[in-house]
Amino acid sequence: MKMGFLISFVNVKGGVGKTTIAFNLSHALRLLRRRVLLIDLDLQENLTDKAIKDRDKVENTVLDLITRDEVTASECIYDTVVDGVGIIPSELEIVRVNKEIDPVSNPQSLFVLKDKLEAVKTQYDYVLLDLHPNVDILTTMALIASSHYIIPIKPDSYSLKGLKIVNEYAGNISRANRNLKEIGILITDLDKRTSLANTFQEALNDTFGHRVMNTVIKRNAAITAAAFNNSTVFQYDQRQPGCQYFFSLAKEVILKCEEVVIDTDYHGVGVNG
Ligand SMILES: Nc1ncnc2c1ncn2[C@@H]1O[C@H](COP(=O)(O)OP(=O)(O)OP(=O)(O)O)[C@@H](O)[C@H]1O
Ligand SMILES: [Mg+2]
Repeated sequence: MKMGFLISFVNVKGGVGKTTIAFNLSHALRLLRRRVLLIDLDLQENLTDKAIKDRDKVENTVLDLITRDEVTASECIYDTVVDGVGIIPSELEIVRVNKEIDPVSNPQSLFVLKDKLEAVKTQYDYVLLDLHPNVDILTTMALIASSHYIIPIKPDSYSLKGLKIVNEYAGNISRANRNLKEIGILITDLDKRTSLANTFQEALNDTFGHRVMNTVIKRNAAITAAAFNNSTVFQYDQRQPGCQYFFSLAKEVILKCEEVVIDTDYHGVGVNG
């Protein structure tokens, strides 16, 4: 049976575009006929706020999934504003996981999310996990459940510091999850008009070489405007360059995970099709 890929977006630096990428990539993958599930693991609930179709219907969140034995993943999945993309929502109280789970006395407790998601891995081609910008029990659980991770990075020196921490941390997680693979470092919100941006991109390519993804998510005001309107950039305005960036990202992710080359370009795909 075909099993889905679970991809975490991780960086200890906040505001690098994790939520934006998860949401827009879900739509781009959908345009390429993949079945997608989003999981919000951030107490800020940003992804839930933007993506969920009907918040009033939510009965179970990812907190219920992790902390209540009897709750299954399918009981936590809700519709999003993108047809065919589901979401497991978050809630503020999710931080309780960090207090309630004690991996020292019970190391197996870190595998709860992984075990619960096993059941949905056959129903989805991609499960995208949006994390908060901390290295803690929640992030560890997400990476133990994941098959892949992407490190989004914004052109500033703080992001580079964050990258160093993520490198060490991912190395440690790999011992608990030997299947975990890095898709790559993804440059986001790159403003080509600034000289810093060009220097940053060159420095990153020099230092990390093939680890830097080919796709670059450049700055595009429509991406923020879309999020403000609780929609993806594809829904907001399908002619915006942001659509190209996320479409290209989806193709690169499919190439890395499925080893399938997609030669359709963005204009060849109907946004509503
Ligand atoms: N390519 C882009 N062009 C324009 N704005 C962008 C782009 N990428 C991200 N942004 C904006 O940058 C801000 C931060 O992005 P986002 O919330 O996705 O980051 P995050 O990593 O999820 O943050 P946090 O760590 O708080 O969860 C948002 O206002 C988003 O709209
Ligand atoms: Mg976020």
